Amino acid sequence: MLRRLHHDQPESFEFTAANREWAEAQMSKYPEGRQASAVIALLWRAQEQEGWLTRPAIEHVAGMLDMAYIRALEVATFYFMFQLQPVGSVAHVQVCGTTSCMICGAEDLIGVCKEKISARPHQVSHDGKFSWEEVECLGACSNAPMAQIGKDYYEDLTAESFAGLLDDMAAGKVPQPGSQTGRFSSEPSDGKTVLLKDRVNDHNASVDLALELEDTLKRIDGTELPIRVPWNPVKDSAARVPPPVNDDLLPPTGADDSPTPGAKPAENTPVSEGGVTKQEAELDDKGRPDEGDVASTEADDQSTPMSDRMEPAGGTHAASSGEGREGSTHDGDGPLEGSGGTEPAEDAGADVAEGDERRPETLDAPRGGEGDDLQQIRGIGPKIAEALTAMGIHHFDQVAGWSPEEVAWVDRNLDGVRGRVIRDDWVGQAKSLLTGGKTTG
Ligand code: FES
Repeated sequence: MLRRLHHDQPESFEFTAANREWAEAQMSKYPEGRQASAVIALLWRAQEQEGWLTRPAIEHVAGMLDMAYIRALEVATFYFMFQLQPVGSVAHVQVCGTTSCMICGAEDLIGVCKEKISARPHQVSHDGKFSWEEVECLGACSNAPMAQIGKDYYEDLTAESFAGLLDDMAAGKVPQPGSQTGRFSSEPSDGKTVLLKDRVNDHNASVDLALELEDTLKRIDGTELPIRVPWNPVKDSAARVPPPVNDDLLPPTGADDSPTPGAKPAENTPVSEGGVTKQEAELDDKGRPDEGDVASTEADDQSTPMSDRMEPAGGTHAASSGEGREGSTHDGDGPLEGSGGTEPAEDAGADVAEGDERRPETLDAPRGGEGDDLQQIRGIGPKIAEALTAMGIHHFDQVAGWSPEEVAWVDRNLDGVRGRVIRDDWVGQAKSLLTGGKTTG
């Protein structure tokens, strides 16, 4: 297939201020004179901003990287992930048509695309909202048939569920990505038979990250990417409670001595003088294991969420990258201003025992008829903000005043946020916002 630039091109391209800052941070990763190495990351961000890659955007990126335009054009036209023609304003759908997906029903999905979007690929629908194409294997074969929409995978699709997804998106909803039949990842479709105690999240890392960032379908202008505090292996794994598993399928007691995530250390767990466990003692002052222990800790600790262990390619979901956890300021990942750092508060609620949680005081209506914009707190998106206001939480000072027991209650009772209230230190953020600080997310 010949990949050519579209005949109709805009006059110019500029990164938004936030995206430019992000792009410059990417360029700084490479030695002086090697900035061209950032070409894919910058082209990708240009596409995330505009929806597709225009000629002015390619020229702009080439100029930023001090490389010949033809070199940037070669990259843009070589990789199929770059869209060289306008795409739907809501979503560009990429249906996998390779063997596994084809056997499992990809042709039905393409039929839905033809019926609901346009008769031919790369044509924008009449309402301008969607476009589609068939692509080669996207590597989710065990969950076939599947489609990539925006930057996320939608798996285990049927013609009906796929049509429903498109209808939801057209109606302004953002459906949950991942398996559409409830599979956690690529385990057998009738359920796991091994590693039954390892799951600590409700969703796999990819879905979890998509839900957390809430940027699944939207264009990235760089101003709304949430910032992340450093992940604390001790507190954060303790804050996550594994979902119930079918006891009948568990191995007999004693067959598996691995500790349950969140469990208190056993009596014979080595405890150092300060009353901390050996594991805690081995962490450096940023809450990370000592360098020499990183490999073994990550390999052993299956409770570590993948979203905290991996950096997606091409800059996608860059807010989860290592730089963000280190508190650098690019792409909105800086520390809270005026918060005195990014570590969650010591007594943020992670250590509250089951049963000691307490529902915080709520208001029937916001004071003065208008509540604060809770979405300024990193980790709170539109859906969570809506749920909080429905509960009677309208103001920063309410969140700032939560006791550890109240933090634990919110964390464990608000749908879909488990671990986030503590991990993202909502209380600390709210206090910062009250004193004039602000998030850069
Ligand atoms: Fe469709 Fe591999 S064949 S994802």
